[in-house]
Amino acid sequence: MKNAKIILDKDFIIGKVDKRLYGSFIEHLGRAVYGGIYEPGHPEADEQGFRRDVIEMVKELGVPLVRYPGGNFVSGFNWEDSVGPKEQRPKRLDLAWFTTETNEVGLHEFADWAKEADSEVMYAINLGTRGPENARDIVEYANHPGGSKFSDMRIANGKKEPLGIKLWCLGNEMDGPWQICHKTAKEYGRTANEAAKLMKWVDPTIETVACGSSGSGMPTFGDWELEMLDECYENIDYVSLHRYYGNPTGDTPGFLARTLDMDEFIKTVAAICDSVKGKKHSNHTVNLSFDEWNVWYHSHEQDKEVWKQGKWGRALPLLEDIYNFEDALLVGSMLITLLRNADRVKIACLAQLVNVIAPIMTRNGGGCWAQTIFYPFMHASRYGRGTALNALVTSPTYACQDFDRVPYIDAMATLEEDGSVSVFCVNRDMEEDFQLEIDLRSFGDLQIREHTILHHDDVKAVNTEENPKNVYPSQGPGGTIENGRAAVTIPALSWNVIRFA
Ligand code: AHR
Repeated sequence: MKNAKIILDKDFIIGKVDKRLYGSFIEHLGRAVYGGIYEPGHPEADEQGFRRDVIEMVKELGVPLVRYPGGNFVSGFNWEDSVGPKEQRPKRLDLAWFTTETNEVGLHEFADWAKEADSEVMYAINLGTRGPENARDIVEYANHPGGSKFSDMRIANGKKEPLGIKLWCLGNEMDGPWQICHKTAKEYGRTANEAAKLMKWVDPTIETVACGSSGSGMPTFGDWELEMLDECYENIDYVSLHRYYGNPTGDTPGFLARTLDMDEFIKTVAAICDSVKGKKHSNHTVNLSFDEWNVWYHSHEQDKEVWKQGKWGRALPLLEDIYNFEDALLVGSMLITLLRNADRVKIACLAQLVNVIAPIMTRNGGGCWAQTIFYPFMHASRYGRGTALNALVTSPTYACQDFDRVPYIDAMATLEEDGSVSVFCVNRDMEEDFQLEIDLRSFGDLQIREHTILHHDDVKAVNTEENPKNVYPSQGPGGTIENGRAAVTIPALSWNVIRFA
C-alpha cells in the first residue's frame, strides 16, 4: 500500500462551481437525436416522440445545460429549416456528416425536450455558410417578446413566450480545415465580433462564446486565440476549448496522464485571454467554455465502414464509442481537472449525451443503458457543487511517454452550502491501493458519510444492454476520521467519491 495526502481548508477557495460545468451536448449527428432522444412509435415515446426513458436517464445524470444543434453540423445549417409545420420542413444534405437531415426535430421541439430534461439550451449559430444577419435573426426569433418579423414568426409557430436562450456559441471549430467554410483567425474574429454585436443589440442579456482552437494539438493553437480575440474581445464572454483523448496503443498509464495536458491547455488559453485583456487595457474578463470534452477513438474505423456502406442515410450509427472502465477513470480525472480550474472554466459540455460518444446508449425499438463514463459524471454533477477548494495533494508520481511526473493520486474537493465536503479522487496506480490522509481540520467536526467507488479488475470492461451493470459504482472501503484527519483506502485503479458531513 502506498501513501498520499490531501490538505483541504475552507479558506483555500478556487471559486464558485458554475452549474454549467456539468453541461453536455446533442448534435444532429448519427443517432443522437433520431433514434436517441427522439423515436416516435417507441413504447416509451411521449406525444412529441421523445423517449421518456432517455429523459429519465438524462435527469439521473444531472445535465443543467445542453449545447445544440452542433458541432460541425451547424456550419451548414439553416435554422429556419427547423421551425414551422413539420411537414413543410425541408430535407437537407448535411455536408458535415454526409447524412440527410430531415428537420423533424427543430428548435421548438428541442427547447421542449430540454425543459423536460431539467436543462437549458446553449445554442450554436452557423458562422460557416452564414453570418451576422442570420445570427441576429435567430436571436430575435428565440428571445424577442413580439412585434417584429421573427418574433411574430415564433408566436405564429406556437410559442407565445420567448424561448429565453441565454448562451450562444458563435459557430463551431472554425479553425479546423474540415469545417464547412473554415476561416482564418482574422476572418473568423471579425465575423464573430459583428455577429455578437448584433445579437447583443437584439438581446443584451445574452452571453456569447467564441470558437477557440478545436484542440491544443492544432498547428495554429495559440495564434488562433490571439488573432481572433484581437478582433472580438469586447463582444464575447467565453472562449471555447475542445479536447478528446484516446488510447489506441493500450498504454493505460499514459492514457490516464492525459489530464496533465488538459490542465496545461486550460491554463494556456486563460493566459492568452488575459494577455489580450492587458493589451486592450480592458476591464472585461473573458472566461472559458470547455464545450467539447471526452474520450473519442473507439468508433473511428467503424465509422469509415458505415460511410462505405452508403452516405446520405438518416440517423446512421456514427461515433458510437463503447466506453470501457479506463475511459471512465479518465473522464473522472477530466472532471477533476475542470473543477480545479473552476475559477476560469464556467461552462463545460461532455460531448456528447446520447449514442454519439455518449454516456447514454439506446437501441432502436429497445432499451437504454448507462455506459461506464455515466457514473463519474453523475457523481460530479450531483456532489461537485458549491465552492471548489484547492486540494493540496502530495502523491508519489510515475513517468510515462509524455510526462515525467504524473501523480498517482488525482484529487479535488468541493464545499457545499450545508457544510458538507466531497472529495473526488482517481487512483492511477495499476497495482497498488493507497492509504490517503485527508486533512480537514479547518472544517470542524466532520464525519465520513459515504465512500463510493467505481472499479473493475479489467480496464477494458464495458456495459451493454444485456449487462448494463458490469461497471457500476459500489461502496468503497471507507476509513476513519480522528481530530479532523481522515484516513481512507483508495483501491488501485479506481474513481472515488468520499463525502464528509
Ligand atoms: O462531437 C463530435 C464533433 O467533434 C463535433 O461535431 C465537432 O465540433 C468536433 O470536431
